[in-house]
Amino acid sequence: MQSASTTNTPQHVAIIMDGNGRWAKARGLSRSAGHQKGVETLRQVVRTAGEAGVQYLTLFAFSSENWSRPQEEVGFLMGLLKKFIKRDLAELRSENVRVKIIGGRENLQSDILDLLIEAEENTKQNNGLNLVIAFNYGARDEIARATKRLAADIKSGALLPEDVCEAKISSYLDTSDIPDPDLIIRSSGEQRLSNFLLWQAAYAEFVFVDELWPDFTKDVFHRALSTYCQRDRRFGGVESAKLIATS
Ligand code: IPE
Ligand code: IPE
Ligand code: MG
Repeated sequence: MQSASTTNTPQHVAIIMDGNGRWAKARGLSRSAGHQKGVETLRQVVRTAGEAGVQYLTLFAFSSENWSRPQEEVGFLMGLLKKFIKRDLAELRSENVRVKIIGGRENLQSDILDLLIEAEENTKQNNGLNLVIAFNYGARDEIARATKRLAADIKSGALLPEDVCEAKISSYLDTSDIPDPDLIIRSSGEQRLSNFLLWQAAYAEFVFVDELWPDFTKDVFHRALSTYCQRDRRFGGVESAKLIATS
């Protein structure tokens, strides 16, 4: 059960990394160049999150809808993911980062699937920053996959219909072992969720920044964190200041 509280460093920050294409276009570069630059931002953000004391950092890297992009772009993004895991895994491991991947795993190329599993396996002993990569992720797809498994458990008798509750549903989601995001940031000026963490975002604070993802510097990140600190999270209760005044 959540209660009204004043906000400090968010335990879980989730980021919709958007704007690589527009960043590239503004410079007369290919969209691929934007994605390449975006990976550098991602590395910096992982470092900054760790330094700031964030415990869970979820990054939306590729959505279940992004497969509809031109084949060339999808191919480039797959290549980037593979390179990122191959090159950065050892460093993440040594920096005590624990990697977890959320998203659908059916129909993924076997080499990609193997790398995702390797990233999780290789870092599972770590207890520092939890880096959650949302890959082939769509919240509706996640909820549909969870519902399918829940229905199968009811059919087999492993779960009783009267035992279905919010916590039970959460336990079937990809994020079963991850707390709900406290703060969701989206870059590039867009103000939508694009099918990201729909269930988990119930009481998240949203910060939308105008910077395109390749321009999402450490300062921009810190600004988003301090905006979060000024929010009064009530979770349906009353202002925390009033709670203090009347207690
Ligand atoms: C985000 O940047 C990266 C992914 C969605 C993979 P975009 O590629 O969406 O960039 P814009 O929105 O076209 O500028
Ligand atoms: C959301 O960005 C997905 C990721 C950041 C991976 P999109 O660029 O795909 O979202 P829309 O199409 O603008 O809603
Ligand atoms: Mg976009």
